[in-house]
Amino acid sequence: MSILTNKNNEKIAFFDSGVGGLTVYAKFRKLLNTENCIYFGDLKHLPYGNKSKDELIGYSRAIFDFFKQQNVKAVVMACNTSSAAAYSTVKDEYDFKIYPMIQSCAKIIAEQNYSRLGIFATEATINSGVYEAQIHKYNPHIKTFTQSCPQWVNIVENHTFGDVQMIEIIKSDLEKMLKNEPDKIILGCTHYPYLLNVLSSYTGADIYIDPAHYFVEYIKSDLEKSCMLNTQKIRGSEEFYVSANPDDFILASKMFYDVPSAEVIELHRRISV
Ligand code: DGL
Repeated sequence: MSILTNKNNEKIAFFDSGVGGLTVYAKFRKLLNTENCIYFGDLKHLPYGNKSKDELIGYSRAIFDFFKQQNVKAVVMACNTSSAAAYSTVKDEYDFKIYPMIQSCAKIIAEQNYSRLGIFATEATINSGVYEAQIHKYNPHIKTFTQSCPQWVNIVENHTFGDVQMIEIIKSDLEKMLKNEPDKIILGCTHYPYLLNVLSSYTGADIYIDPAHYFVEYIKSDLEKSCMLNTQKIRGSEEFYVSANPDDFILASKMFYDVPSAEVIELHRRISV
């Protein structure tokens, strides 16, 4: 006798180097709370922004292999850096759906007809040139200004954004960007929305784009189109995994999403290359 499984009930997996991807995950759960979800934070390799393309491809493959064992129906790359460095290499290696952050949001952002667009992101994302290339693919007329913010991820993960010295770093990166007189600034790293309070105290909040907003709408409509939505009537399950430092993850996550401490599992299995 065969047991019939409903593919739509299978999990959707999210990953990032740390708590950054929770800025996507939290919005997703609000929009589609019947989906069963897994979140993986690769704290062992944090920050991703200063890693090489090969290292980032290796991390993505190891995480995708773990998700494959979990029989997920889709993977959300809630990490711009991995989307920039690894997506094009790994996208055909797995048989589940993959949603890369930059490539899924660029069209929607490019169609807003901004003329001067700032992009804050990690060094690896900026150096890859993928964000600008994706925006220009859909709208070659937008002038883009990219800037890496190498310290911001650690400021978020260590939740030191109240420290005067850290505020100075954020302010100085912002001042450099503002010299370009952008209409809007994309927060092109999923950790950066945690800094919105600090950033908007200098500029007002309207100038910033958190692409997570577009990203979750895109995922929802694609799942709908592909008839992959979970139609169960109950709230979907949640599982959280980290490759190291579960206590740091729990503490940092409290700023954005209330991850139940008991649910965070540190994988003893080596999630690394
Ligand atoms: N939050 C990730 C991103 O969107 C990675 C940040 C990092 O670990 O450097 O790029």
